[in-house]
Parts: sequence; structure tokens; C-alpha cells
Amino acid sequence: CFSNFHKITGHTMNRLSGHEDAKRVAAYQAVDDHIKNNTAVGIGSGSTVIYAVDRLAEKINKEHLKIVCVATSFQSRQLILNHKLTLGDLETHPDLSCVIDGADEVDDKLLLIKGGGGCLTQEKIVASCTSNVIIIADHTKLSKHLGDNYKRGIPIEVIPLSYVPVIHKIETMLGGKAPVRMAKSKAGPVVTDNGNFILDWQFPPDIQSQQSWEAINSKLIHIPGVVETGLFINMVSHVYFGMPDGTFLHK
Ligand code: 5RP
Repeated sequence: CFSNFHKITGHTMNRLSGHEDAKRVAAYQAVDDHIKNNTAVGIGSGSTVIYAVDRLAEKINKEHLKIVCVATSFQSRQLILNHKLTLGDLETHPDLSCVIDGADEVDDKLLLIKGGGGCLTQEKIVASCTSNVIIIADHTKLSKHLGDNYKRGIPIEVIPLSYVPVIHKIETMLGGKAPVRMAKSKAGPVVTDNGNFILDWQFPPDIQSQQSWEAINSKLIHIPGVVETGLFINMVSHVYFGMPDGTFLHK
């Protein structure tokens, strides 16, 4: 989706090197544990997935594997092509052996917030094509309850025509604030790979004690104009967290 996944300046790189190591550990372990010969795999989006694709390319070349990669975004497609991997799609490969993807937050029930990079709709479609969704993340993404760590809110992809009525409906029905995500330049809204806008719903803190995330997701998805939400509920088989000491935590 967005090329800023690659844009890490020298200064930020130093500050984040611990996080980068943690992402790498999680990504390498997931690839080593789950990639099998003669399969089709989904490739997620974001900065952690870059390490997974590096490892995947290394493994394919070393072990002469035949793997077809299905992208979840423009960024993911570019990653696959840049590594000279075989690019497939859901038309020819609707059943995937696994999908490896990142997340913005993972709670202790393995519910996810995704879509920080704006690729949530294609990520959810691709994730729905396998029974083995593998999430890779650094330790800062782990939380007890959704929203404890990821403060930007739940990303919601909307048809541009509908964005104001959808904001009103979310705020009236569920509370909180749901601003449209603006480009860094502030010149206009962020536009997804599907030509849509993203709302980042900052939900009221007490919402989790009132209703389940399934119920909340169902209310959101039924608002006309909502394409998809970044709530991934009961979709995950494995999560690998890279830890600060260089080890990984597998859930
Ligand atoms: C994009 C996503 C990403 O997987 C999520 O934002 C995590 O990214 P990163 O690995 O860069 O932290 O959901 O829509």
C-alpha cells in the first residue's frame, strides 16, 4: 500500500533498531516454521512483512522450493516482484496454505487491529482464503485489551461518497470520534489501493465492557458505505512476537 513503510531515516533507524531486530526474529521464525514446498502463500503488508519476504526468498533459493505468492496490497506486490518471487492471485489460487502478515495490535485473545498502513480490506480477503493466518510483530504490539497500545483507533475503509454520513453514524451509534485519515502533506485524505478513504475510529474506552468486538464489528460493517474494518476476529492461527532480548514468543 504505502511506500512510507520503507522510509526509515538514519536517525529513526538507530532509535528503532531494537524494534527492527524484534520484527526480524518474528518474521524469520514464522517463515521457517510454516513455509512448505509446492504451496501458495499470502503475503501481508507493512514493515515486518519485509523481513518475512527476505527470509522467504532466501529459503526458496536455497531449498529450490516452488511457492506462489499472493499479494495483499500494492506494497506487498512490489515486495514479491522485487525479490523475483512467483506472483499469483486469488483467481488462480483461492486456497492458500498460509498467510503471513503484520498487525497494529494483538490482544490476549488474539483479536487484532490491522490497517495502520491502510491495506485492511485486501489483507482480510486474503486472510479469509486460508485456515492458517500467521501474524508477525514486535513485542510492542502485544496488549491485554485492544486499544491499550495502539492509540490511533480502528481503521475502517469507506467509499469516499459516504465518509461524512459514516462518521456521523459511527459517532452517534457507538460514540468516540472517527476522523478521516489525512495524507502526511495534509493535502487530502489517504486513498487506499481500492480508491477508498480510511476512518480511524477512536472508540470510547468503556466500549469493551458494554459489548463484544463481534457485535461492534457487525454494527460497523452494516453501515452503508463501510467496505471493511481493521478488526480481525477469530482469524488468527499463530502469532510470533519478537522480544527485546532477541528471542520470540509464539502464541
Ligand atoms: C497494514 C497492516 C500492517 O500489517 C500493520 O500496520 C503492521 O505494520 P508494521 O509491520 O509496519 O508494524 O495492517 O494495513
